[in-house]
Amino acid sequence: MKIAMIGTGYVGLVSGICFSDFGHSVVCVDKDPQKIDLLNSGKVPIYEPGLDALMAKNVAAGRLCFSKDLQAAIDGADAAFIAVGTPTRRGDGHADLQYVMAAAEEIAQAAQDYLVVVTKSTVPVGTNRQVKQLIRKTAPSLEFDVASNPEFLREGAAIEDFMKPDRVMIGVQTERAAEVMEEIYRPLYLRDFPIITTDLESAEMTKYAANAFLATKISFINEIAALCEKVGADVKQVAKGMGMDNRIGSKFLHAGPGYGGSCFPKDTKALARIGQENAVAMQITETVIKVNDEIKRRMIQKLLDLCDGSFKDKIIAVLGVTFKPNTDDMRDAPSLTIVPALIGGGAKVRLCDPQGRHEGEHLLPGGRWVEDPYQASQNADLLVILTEWNEFRALDLKIIARKMNQPKMADLRNIYSAKDARKAGFESYDSIGREPFSKEPS
Ligand code: UDX
Repeated sequence: MKIAMIGTGYVGLVSGICFSDFGHSVVCVDKDPQKIDLLNSGKVPIYEPGLDALMAKNVAAGRLCFSKDLQAAIDGADAAFIAVGTPTRRGDGHADLQYVMAAAEEIAQAAQDYLVVVTKSTVPVGTNRQVKQLIRKTAPSLEFDVASNPEFLREGAAIEDFMKPDRVMIGVQTERAAEVMEEIYRPLYLRDFPIITTDLESAEMTKYAANAFLATKISFINEIAALCEKVGADVKQVAKGMGMDNRIGSKFLHAGPGYGGSCFPKDTKALARIGQENAVAMQITETVIKVNDEIKRRMIQKLLDLCDGSFKDKIIAVLGVTFKPNTDDMRDAPSLTIVPALIGGGAKVRLCDPQGRHEGEHLLPGGRWVEDPYQASQNADLLVILTEWNEFRALDLKIIARKMNQPKMADLRNIYSAKDARKAGFESYDSIGREPFSKEPS
């Protein structure tokens, strides 16, 4: 199959590279000439484990290339995937569809023969029908179909998620489009991964429902964590006990400083908006959004308590700024709310992250970047773990405690325990949904 992938952002790039690894001939197109030049020089503009090697392999095999020329990429393509951004529109929570529509129009202008125009970007229910109308209007004599094929990739595990998906959702209107999509995903059919073929609207809806449900699980456990702190329960034990019930499942029950990233915040807001437009109140999703906003304020209060009520002149070491490990992505990361509150309160903040510095330098002005956690903790009054990178999971806490001015830790990802902290010589340790420990002043 010949595939044109429009948009080389996270989704487009991972999908394009993985499709080429299936054996298809893929041209990835982007309007940004710098990005295309970078890709053509063999560099991947995002941090995703394994992606550079997979890209090099498929470029070398002649199945994958990068181009600014959409027209040439569409020529002879069996399918054109739209994988451009759908950011939250300012002010109204709507997914901004201008890039999706612009891509659809360009595809329509370029296409000569039958092709399937597949939307991979997360789009509100009904968008694929709008895409169809637009293409029909732009190219009245073109033979084409539209398909919805939402992605469920997690950053940091995207290749694995693409190659071994829990399921693939395909929304189509015709048998012909279903056949093309089946051919594209044939390697997964052959390995018995479930492919669910539906109408357009159900495929579009599934993406929002799945992401909102996962976000709900996180906000739920974060709320339970707040209660655990009050009643003396341990949220890790509670989550374990809950998760062993097969009907609930153990995933996405890790309490933390709130969800972030490119999908959950944006998609929950868009779903709430779709509900409003259709006069169906999405009360659960609206509450999930509120709980996730509030939790960051709760985190700031936690840190303030550890700093005896004031950040003024405190040296605070922050480990992790990305929204989760194994990515350089900082979109809606809890650090974007928490770090400015520390700096705004007068703290001297040291920042350290295995991949986040490049983005973080612009987004967190006023912080001082250091190489590693040991450097960060020199004379510090508080150590804050914000992202659970593997690099932070096995620190020598004794050395850290000795380096600190006041050995206090806020472990906002629950990767250590009060016992670990006490043994290492920490004065205080607080985490999420577990009893804090604090040495009585002698
Ligand atoms: C998510 C979905 O998992 C994926 O299917 C979708 O296509 C895109 O959005 P991603 O944003 O890459 O993927 O990250 P994910 O691993 O799902 O984590 C999202 C956020 O939730 C992170 O901020 C993470 O720290 C937080 N999270 C996740 C928790 O706080 N607790 C958990 O138990 C799980």
